[in-house]
Amino acid sequence: MTRLLVNIDHVATLRNARRETFPDPAEAAVLCENAGASGIVFHLRQDRRHINDADVAALAGAIKGKIDFELSLAPEIVDICCETRPQLATIVPERRDEITTEGGMDVTANRDRLDETIPKLYEAGVEEVALFVDPVPEFIRGAAEAGANCIELHTGKYANAESDDERAGILVAMAEAAELANSLGLSVHAGHGLDLSNYPAFGRSVPYLAEVSIGFAIIARALATGLPAAVAEMVETINRHPFD
Ligand code: PXP
Repeated sequence: MTRLLVNIDHVATLRNARRETFPDPAEAAVLCENAGASGIVFHLRQDRRHINDADVAALAGAIKGKIDFELSLAPEIVDICCETRPQLATIVPERRDEITTEGGMDVTANRDRLDETIPKLYEAGVEEVALFVDPVPEFIRGAAEAGANCIELHTGKYANAESDDERAGILVAMAEAAELANSLGLSVHAGHGLDLSNYPAFGRSVPYLAEVSIGFAIIARALATGLPAAVAEMVETINRHPFD
C-alpha cells in the first residue's frame, strides 16, 4: 500500500500572504494525520518563504506519524534538519528565484556535497535520506552510491505533460527508474503536482511506490471540501489505484 504524506507548506504560504498568525501549519498537520495521512512533509527553504524555524519546532511537536523534512544542501538548513531529527530527510535542489521546486537534483554535479551531507544526517539520527530526482538512471545509481536509502521521483513533468504520448513516455521512464531503485535497495517515493486526476495512471504504472508527497492539490481542494475530506479523498484514490 502506498502511503500519503501531505505537504503543508501551502498553509504557511497562505498565512504569510497576510503576515498573519493563521492558518497554522501545525494545526493543519494534525487534521491531515487524523484524516488518514501517514505523515507530513515540509520544506524549510533558505528564504523562509513559507515554513519558518518556529513552524519546524511546532510541527516536530505536533506530528505523530512520519516527518519528511525537505531541505537543500545549505549547511544552515542541514544543521536545523539534524537538530529536528525527522524520520525522513529529502534533499532537493533549491533556487531562490523559483516559484516552487523546478526539477530533480543533478546528483552527479552535487556528489561531493552529498557525500559530505548524507552521513551527517544519519549520524544525527535521521533514518531515511531521499534524493529528489528525475527518472535518470545515472542519478539513481548516484543516489545509492552517495548513501541515500530512498529516492523521490520528481513527478512535475508528468503532471504538466501536454499530450498523452508525452505522459505515457514519462510513465515508462518512471517505472524503469522505480525498478532500478528497488534493485539497488532504495525505497521509492514520488511527488510534485500529483492530484486526484493524474494519480490513478501514475499509481497503476509505477511499481514499488512506498510513499507519495502531495500538497498543493490537497490544500486547494480543501477550500471546497474541508481539509479532512480532501485528505481522505486522496488516500482513497491512492488505495484504489495500486500498481497493476
Ligand atoms: N516533493 C517535493 C520534493 C516538493 O518540492 C514538493 C513541492 O513542495 C512536493 C513533493 C509536493 O508538490 P505539490 O505541492 O505540487 O503536491
